[in-house]
Amino acid sequence: MSDCSAQKCNTDEFYNVVLKLTKSCGELIKSRTSNRSKKVETKSGAIDFVTETDQEVEKLLIEGLTEAFPDHKFIGEESVSSGAHADLTDAPTWIIDPVDGTMNFVHSFPHSCISIALFVCKVPTIGIIYNPMLGQLFTAQRGKGAYLNGERITVSGTKNLSDALIMMEFGTSRDPEKRRVILENQQKLMPQVHGLRALGSAALNMAMVACGAADAYFEYGIHIWDIAAGELIITEAGGVVIDPAGGQVDRLSRRVLGASSQELAEQLAKELTQFYPERD
Ligand code: IPD
Repeated sequence: MSDCSAQKCNTDEFYNVVLKLTKSCGELIKSRTSNRSKKVETKSGAIDFVTETDQEVEKLLIEGLTEAFPDHKFIGEESVSSGAHADLTDAPTWIIDPVDGTMNFVHSFPHSCISIALFVCKVPTIGIIYNPMLGQLFTAQRGKGAYLNGERITVSGTKNLSDALIMMEFGTSRDPEKRRVILENQQKLMPQVHGLRALGSAALNMAMVACGAADAYFEYGIHIWDIAAGELIITEAGGVVIDPAGGQVDRLSRRVLGASSQELAEQLAKELTQFYPERD
């Protein structure tokens, strides 16, 4: 499947299968959210949690998609944590974060979601972000617009930093230099914007930009699975996704900036102190 020009994909079939699987996995997440005694492990020495639900949901999604589409590939957060390689080739590849906002899930804070995207020839083709606790299902297929629970959504269109509500995150790393940069950006932006917010889920922050509830989001330290679905949902809603220093986003660079307009994205990029995490 490397000849991209010759490749013809029935993306509606892919979409229908993944939507059904995502909804049923969402029920599983929802049924476990309020239980405060979840089995939690810490990954990579940071405050980066994984629960048995993260692992189970990723397994269910990969098994269900493999059964329907045996030649498709996967990049899954928990598979990569267990040693798989994050290899994005031209083959149809599902990029999965089974529970984005695991910290929220652990604390029963109702802002976590499944984030799943299909890339074909390295192009985002399907994106789904589903928060089952709040019943928010964000969907997009390339060229067909973005939707929240079946209703078309668009970005706010805000162009000026001085009118913007900005999503930013504190992340799970305890690297002192990263902490310094985050606090510096918070200090710089606070007096210039309407407000700063953090939902604790990269995917849900991007979904807020897509539906016009926020105007921009940036983060250093995310992974491709945190942002793959959000990228398509924002762009299909009329927004832009770039590198936080400006220019094209590099999905494996662990850096992202999404905004409701190119003007706002560029203004924000100019203001930010930059941080370059180790690449995926
Ligand atoms: C995390 C969340 C969080 C962001 C981190 C991500 P996870 O994903 O999206 O908001 O700040 O960078 O790693 O670990 O909950 O899937």
